[in-house]
Amino acid sequence: MKYEIKCIGVLTSGGDAPGMNAAVRSVTRAAIFNGMRVKAIYRGYKGLITNEIVEFQTQNVSNIIQQGGTILKSARCAEFRTPEGRKLAYDNMVAAEIDALVVIGGDGTFTGARIFAQEYNVPIVGLPGTIDNDLYGTDSTIGYDTALNTIVEAVDKIRDTATSHDRLFFIEVMGRDAGFLALNSALASGAEAAIIPERETKVDQLEELIKNGFRKTKNSSIVIVAESDITGGATEMAEHVRKEHPEYDVRVTILGHIQRGGSPTAYDRILASRMGVASIDALVDEQRNIMIGIVNDEIVHVPFTKAIKDDKPVNENLLGVLQILSI
Ligand code: F6P
Repeated sequence: MKYEIKCIGVLTSGGDAPGMNAAVRSVTRAAIFNGMRVKAIYRGYKGLITNEIVEFQTQNVSNIIQQGGTILKSARCAEFRTPEGRKLAYDNMVAAEIDALVVIGGDGTFTGARIFAQEYNVPIVGLPGTIDNDLYGTDSTIGYDTALNTIVEAVDKIRDTATSHDRLFFIEVMGRDAGFLALNSALASGAEAAIIPERETKVDQLEELIKNGFRKTKNSSIVIVAESDITGGATEMAEHVRKEHPEYDVRVTILGHIQRGGSPTAYDRILASRMGVASIDALVDEQRNIMIGIVNDEIVHVPFTKAIKDDKPVNENLLGVLQILSI
């Protein structure tokens, strides 16, 4: 080992995602395997500020690979955005003899990590843990596959009642300002359309849908809408259609936080396990300020700045596939 890291701190931050526990398990065991000590930091950056730090042994992460949520708990921490908060965090980190951090979360987590690493010269490696799949430089984030499957299961159920009543359903899914969950769940559940923020800036997707008469060959329809101020969300769309087209029997379902829970899929467990080991390998190899990603099934290193700032494009060709299949 060139730069000796004797002890790592691990935390989960931002919105929890299924597979975060599998990632914590993997980071902990890979670090111990490499002769490092592991300190678990509770409640994300908040726990670093309030000193909620506990030493982990390998058995602390037993029997968690299958659990949703995060045993380390999570938080969105405003104090870490201030220099005073970060100073407290650094002092606690030094007192706990932590030499490097592995942070598991989304863009907010990496933004904090980048600033903290720059200010205090701390080696930090990030694992992409978010259901939104909105981080540049990785084909998938930990939790995305599970959330996608949860949505598809819910939409299948809604379809039963939509069909029975000949209704038009607008189903709102999460994703912040990214349409990955909406577009791919629409494809996987056989929905008639997906309304995503990436396209809304170019065309009014609802108007387009109305113009095409939704689905002409069927009496019920399902439209998946990505939550976002750009799309306006499912409620706004439903109101518009109710006003303009009283002939449609419209209903709205907002899936909400059900999308964040549940046992991770095999894909997310494997991804989290591979990424956790890769994060320790990266630290041993003197890598810092990078996110671990996966591209074409190969582990890659992505600088925090790129992962956060560059827009990850959705494959808009999939909208064409959706349209063909909804005739
Ligand atoms: O980033 C994950 C996510 O679930 C987004 O899809 C959603 O917009 C947001 O978090 C909701 O956050 P909270 O649980 O803090 O309301």
